[in-house]
Amino acid sequence: MNKLIAPSILSADFSKLAREVEMINSSEADWIHLDVMDGVFVPNISFGFPVIEKIKEYATKPLDVHLMIVDPNRYFEKFKAVGADILTIHYEAETHLHRSVSAIKNLGMKAGVALNPHTPIALLEDIISDIDLVLIMSVNPGFGGQKFIENTFNKILKLKKMITKNESQALIEVDGGVNLSNSAKLYKTGVDILVAGNSVFSSVNPKQAIKEIKSAQ
Ligand code: DX5
Ligand code: ZN
Repeated sequence: MNKLIAPSILSADFSKLAREVEMINSSEADWIHLDVMDGVFVPNISFGFPVIEKIKEYATKPLDVHLMIVDPNRYFEKFKAVGADILTIHYEAETHLHRSVSAIKNLGMKAGVALNPHTPIALLEDIISDIDLVLIMSVNPGFGGQKFIENTFNKILKLKKMITKNESQALIEVDGGVNLSNSAKLYKTGVDILVAGNSVFSSVNPKQAIKEIKSAQ
């Protein structure tokens, strides 16, 4: 499979959101990554349904929605209704993961499971065949612009092994601290989708930054 990139809107200029989405539309980006934070699961609050609904109006690419919220199952229908294509929930935030993954898929979305940096890959062994995507957090979730945690590479290798052993179709996504200095190694280690916030939006030419990170494969 071709390697993908999903710019994270968290680092965009929210006063020019339509323009930022149009920049992504006309770039080589594959998905648009949307970080939803509730101030409980993570120590930050970002945005919710009305903002996602507006982004959907402008976006020509799939919406990759990353929920950093407790009990996410309360809102699956609502995220579907505002336009989520891929819905990722945190392992640490969901007691009945199998039920929730099935519910997301039954609503016609791709189901992802995210792991915090301290959460072992091995915990996914009994669900890896049921999920469409595993999002490995390479920073502690809650904020853009943090430093990449190097142990992520070990986790990618363990996850790749698990996926192969179980003949799973799950894609590997890495989120946090991704930039031009680690993107090539991440793709090479087995990542399918890289999320990039700060390294794209703080660049003088975000479209070029997207192109360069993606072409590092
Ligand atoms: C962090 C979010 C990330 C964030 C990544 O909790 O999940 O998606 O936007 O931002 P950077 O690329 O700046 O680390
Ligand atoms: Zn994210």
